[in-house]
Amino acid sequence: MDETVRRDPGAHRVLTGDRPTGPLHLGHYFGSLRNRVRLQRLGVEMFLVIPDYQVITDRDVADRLAEHTENLVLDYLATGIDADRATIFTHSAVPALNQLLLPFLSLVSVAELHRNPTVKDEIAHSSQSAVNGLMLTYPVHQAADILFCKADLVPVGKDQLPHLEVSRTVARRFNERYPHPDGRTVFPRPRALLDAAPLLLGTDGGKMSKSRGNSIPLGADEDTTARLLKGAKTDTDRRITYDPATRPEVSNLVLLAALCQDRTPEEVAEEIGDGGAAALKRTVTEAVNEHLRPIRARRADFAADRGHLRDVLRAGNERANTIADATLAEVREVMGSL
Ligand code: TRP
Repeated sequence: MDETVRRDPGAHRVLTGDRPTGPLHLGHYFGSLRNRVRLQRLGVEMFLVIPDYQVITDRDVADRLAEHTENLVLDYLATGIDADRATIFTHSAVPALNQLLLPFLSLVSVAELHRNPTVKDEIAHSSQSAVNGLMLTYPVHQAADILFCKADLVPVGKDQLPHLEVSRTVARRFNERYPHPDGRTVFPRPRALLDAAPLLLGTDGGKMSKSRGNSIPLGADEDTTARLLKGAKTDTDRRITYDPATRPEVSNLVLLAALCQDRTPEEVAEEIGDGGAAALKRTVTEAVNEHLRPIRARRADFAADRGHLRDVLRAGNERANTIADATLAEVREVMGSL
């Protein structure tokens, strides 16, 4: 965990989020969700954006948007986010946040928008025949997600670093272009908190991803988890070792068991030894199901009360609106708007 956060957790505001495109899985859990809960328990103020407009960057319509949005709230609460202390909101529900996009867009050049490596990658993998304007500009929109509440820390994976750089650039240029009469600056320059956990692979050995059908959803039941892990790719070497470079699939399962049991992957591999892939899969299935049992139990409780999920989101949206209105008022003031 970041030293500066540990020293004075109350001095920080964290914002991060997940696109509402499908259920969250174990990769999300070990990569970021768990860490958010730790940050919140340390006393950091937490904002979670469900960036619904960002869904329509690489597809024509946001499929089952309400369902995915509700399920994200559900996964947050199930993994331990305390809704009384966190602000969970969708950016489409916060008009003043979206209005920040206009001045922000004027602060970046078209060449810079084209240069963003993550956007380039998404364009390369998009199934759309033409690149839409939002695809090119959403990193600036993301800057509004982050800056509207003046978050200073943004926990993200590596792919998001170019976007964080855009946010930092927008904050710096805005502050330079529109100095406040009393000398203070409007926006902090947000810093990335890189996800600590190693990347988990999917059951096919590729990157674990919502859209590739190779993930273990957090909300899956124990039998489904067992089935998914049973079908996971392994190799023909009977002795189980942890060697991510030469045995990525087997090592990934070893790592997953280790993360669930809070042990080192080497220990797990050693224990299975010559037991082969079958023993490895038994171990990892038990480890995952055991680790997730309390989370899934909480998930089932929260899932039974959809009204509560909506209430959490309504309260979060309301709070986000109050903050966004105040920031927009400041922006209008330094810009000289009447
Ligand atoms: N772009 C992020 C993703 O694709 C989601 C996101 C939107 C986000 N706004 C954000 C992440 C603000 C961190 C901070 O996963």
